[in-house]
Amino acid sequence: MRILVTGKNGQLGRSIQKIVNKDTKIANNQSPNEYIFVGKEDLDLSSESSISHYFNNKFDIIINCAAYTQVDRAEQEAELANQINHLAVKQLASIASKQQARLMHISTDYVFDGESGKPSTETDTPNPINAYGRTKLAGEKALQALMPINAIIIRTSWLYSEFGNNFVKTMLRLGRERDELSVVNDQMGSPTYATDLAEAILEIIRHNKFRDVAQTTQIYNYSNEGEISWYEFAKEIFKIEKIECKVNSIATQHYPTPAKRPRNALMKKDKIVKVFNTKIYNWKSSLNTCMTILKQQQ
Ligand SMILES: NC(=O)c1ccc[n+]([C@@H]2O[C@H](COP(=O)([O-])OP(=O)(O)OC[C@H]3O[C@@H](n4cnc5c(N)ncnc54)[C@H](OP(=O)(O)O)[C@@H]3O)[C@@H](O)[C@H]2O)c1
Repeated sequence: MRILVTGKNGQLGRSIQKIVNKDTKIANNQSPNEYIFVGKEDLDLSSESSISHYFNNKFDIIINCAAYTQVDRAEQEAELANQINHLAVKQLASIASKQQARLMHISTDYVFDGESGKPSTETDTPNPINAYGRTKLAGEKALQALMPINAIIIRTSWLYSEFGNNFVKTMLRLGRERDELSVVNDQMGSPTYATDLAEAILEIIRHNKFRDVAQTTQIYNYSNEGEISWYEFAKEIFKIEKIECKVNSIATQHYPTPAKRPRNALMKKDKIVKVFNTKIYNWKSSLNTCMTILKQQQ
């Protein structure tokens, strides 16, 4: 099987590479799967011609981890975000369909407004409240229209890892630089350690339900377990690292950003657990795992 992973320099792409490299070493290079990790340099999702040129290559499975992820900047760059998060996904779906490849695509809780007062399910009606969310939703819809079978969309939330830029790394940096920080306490979510999501993705693509049998395209939610605010997340990061920075709890209205954020990013994960028996780790244990790795890198 030739398995393509886009976004090789992103948090999720690098987390998948980490696991695949480890597994390949264990298997002594006897793996029946060939993984190809590709970045913007070779496959630019903002360019239709780059995409069609790249897919002169044929793949059995495409895992699309690449995305325009700069939520605030997307308000100014909606067209570019739309190209990468929507039109490129549409093109990938069309190519996957022609190549008879399976497509795994990653989406976000930002397709919702977060106002329902309860964790979202896969069948709730989306209502994005920022440009990034609108482009991700358009990508989901285009994929579903072009690939009624053989694709999976995984919605995730609050992704962090030892790679790239994310909340955990930002808090560690700011916590060491400052005596005091203000963090919003009225946006609730479940953080997602990218390695956990990467493991879930790799389990699913090995699953015969995804690989062998033509299945109706489905959406699945995946995040770690637990319900916290960004404020509580920051407090726990400082507690683990023993950083003595005071964290002030503030309301979203006192931390204005160009893009609005959903107040509630919580998602129900029953479906992915039921269908693929996916493990859902507690957010605190996964945070500890990630921070242990970050410490080793210091
Ligand atoms: N981060 C979150 O909190 C979060 C939450 C919910 C859902 N998600 C979704 O989860 C997925 C993975 O997110 P992530 O955190 O791993 O994102 P990330 O770290 O920002 O990585 C995104 C990757 O996409 C690549 N990319 C950007 N523009 C591209 C282009 N024109 N052509 C090809 N590649 C391009 C980037 O390449 P460069 O590194 O070269 O720029 C980067 O490697 C995305 O679909 C995202 O929407 C993320």
